[in-house]
Amino acid sequence: MLEFDPLDLVEPSRYAERGRPDALFAKLRREAPVVFCEPEGYEPFWAITRHEDIVAISRDPARFSNTGRIALLKKHEDDLIRNVRTIINMDPPDHGAYRAIGNRWFVPRNLRRLEDRVRALAQELLDGIAERGAARIDFIQEIAVPLPMRMICGLLGLPAKDEPFALRLSNEVFGGDDPDMKRAEGGREKTIAEAFGYFTKLLADRRREPREDLLSVIANAEVHGKPIGDLEALSYAFIILAAGIDTTRNALGSGIEALLAHPDQLERLRKDPSLIPTAVEEILRWTVPANQMLRTATCDTQLRGVPILKGDTLVLFYPSANRDESVFDEPDRFLVDRKPNPHLTFGIGEHFCLGAGLARMEIRVLLEELMPRLRSIRLDGTPKRIETNLIVGWKQLPIELELGAASNH
Ligand code: HEM
Repeated sequence: MLEFDPLDLVEPSRYAERGRPDALFAKLRREAPVVFCEPEGYEPFWAITRHEDIVAISRDPARFSNTGRIALLKKHEDDLIRNVRTIINMDPPDHGAYRAIGNRWFVPRNLRRLEDRVRALAQELLDGIAERGAARIDFIQEIAVPLPMRMICGLLGLPAKDEPFALRLSNEVFGGDDPDMKRAEGGREKTIAEAFGYFTKLLADRRREPREDLLSVIANAEVHGKPIGDLEALSYAFIILAAGIDTTRNALGSGIEALLAHPDQLERLRKDPSLIPTAVEEILRWTVPANQMLRTATCDTQLRGVPILKGDTLVLFYPSANRDESVFDEPDRFLVDRKPNPHLTFGIGEHFCLGAGLARMEIRVLLEELMPRLRSIRLDGTPKRIETNLIVGWKQLPIELELGAASNH
């Protein structure tokens, strides 16, 4: 019988101190890929760590539902999602009907339109740093946060003055266990109530006077021939805001950290920009901002011969799938030219990330703008991890960055 401390899989303070439990994931993949865990302070769950199993579960919504718990939080916040009904909380057929509302905003044609805005934002941020010579910056606060924050707020149609407010909401949801990011009092439940209050007013405005933004599309959507319900519209706006900022910020921040930790790979990328597309995928495989999502068994069933009971929770640990040695050659090496790269950073199947194309584009554009200007980059202090098991990454990444002038604008 494999002995391990299940708190190592979930406890935010351990993620902050030690980082992701990659060695434990590897052990579980080898010895107990479907294992029952009852860490103190958490509702029990099955930890799923192999790529093949995460794919099979994600592709089987009839057996493994999204209408139960969706993310593993501490016991007192675990049923928080009873107050929301986002597309992540839905199963077919509702799921497809609601997903279609936002889908058109994330198709390649629209992404090409958004790319100009991402590039202009990236250039603006980098120009500001280039002017400062060898600048000492926190990469997270100066680049990784503003880029996705402004993109998502722009997409939804929020006024620019509300960006700091929107960022605070997103931080409080995903950094809700971190002493520097969490809400001063009341926890995530209060944050969600505050977000709903804010969006109630904006959605009403957009019903009266629709504009060219995603909020207007949500506000005026019809599902199954009827106007979208208030709970569903509020949840939709909220999930786009929350899922669009912190995830991408952590992919950008952890991506730069990974390049700094592998200077040979950074050098290859700098010399050969044609590697940027594969580097984007490797950054996604390596950084895995979304650490876990949950499914609930809809019937008594089995996985690898292990009996699972109706109502049991399964935690899909994406970082473990991304290091699965039966799928990836040399999974513990960070290689900017890795191909193929069937990582599960965006999930797979029914709930495959709606914003995957946008996130990929943001990472690619930032690298395309950064690499040709890069004179020097080095760590300038000790990076600090977010205290979380949910959207994992760095809250501080102090670097010294010297940039040359842009060559193409
Ligand atoms: C690197 C950045 C990102 C990562 C790592 C990420 C990861 C994920 C994951 C793992 C899922 C759930 C998959 C599942 O349960 O099977 C998901 C779903 C989702 N993501 Fe993302 N995401 C990112 C960026 C974004 C962005 C930029 C947006 C929005 C604009 C977004 C919006 C969503 C939505 C709405 C869903 C729910 C999809 C559904 O249930 O059908 N994500 N994402």
